[in-house]
Amino acid sequence: MKIFIDTANISEIKEAASLGILDGVTTNPSLVSKEGKDFRALLDEILKIVDGPVSAEVISTDYEGILKEGRELSKIHHNIVVKIPLIKEGLKAVRTLSGEGVKTNVTLCFSPSQALLAAKAGATYISPFVGRLDDISEDGMGLIEQIVTIYNNYAFDTEVLVASIRHPLHFVEACMMGADVCTMPFNVIDKLYSHPLTDIGLEKFLSDWNKQKK
Ligand code: E4P
Repeated sequence: MKIFIDTANISEIKEAASLGILDGVTTNPSLVSKEGKDFRALLDEILKIVDGPVSAEVISTDYEGILKEGRELSKIHHNIVVKIPLIKEGLKAVRTLSGEGVKTNVTLCFSPSQALLAAKAGATYISPFVGRLDDISEDGMGLIEQIVTIYNNYAFDTEVLVASIRHPLHFVEACMMGADVCTMPFNVIDKLYSHPLTDIGLEKFLSDWNKQKK
């Protein structure tokens, strides 16, 4: 299971990277716009901190525009993964870009048929958004189960990148289902190692140790 951080915030990326368990970064136009910085400058900073896949999303929605942006983004660094929305023009562009050896992350996936088509088009990663499905009373993790089964049935190489994760249980279930990657905001990564019994146990160990010394 690979762990990616879903943010464009440099301090959060640095802090997550310092844990030694961070494999990559995903960004999206909303996350980038929140930082109020130049996109290219932001990507350069991220690429210096993390030596792993960094997803950068295109803004175009037409085939030619997606290709142009995708080619430009992919030239920045070998770790750049071009993030492309799961629309008709996007799928066509994924097919062309994957033929050119460009790594792609097909985003805004909400159904198993969308995921199957992305894999057929040669996507490197598929990003199903589990939290946003849960938000509308649909079963986000059920979608992951379906995609993992379909990809296994047909031996697709496309990696299942679970996105829109809101809490540690999403992460644990994704691990149980055999998804390849989870991308999470910093606040969820920060919860993965916390347990109240660990804190209580440590406090007891240290207070017992101090008693013995006296
Ligand atoms: C994935 O690549 C997206 O950036 C992200 O996971 C969306 O998450 P949200 O639904 O919390 O905005």
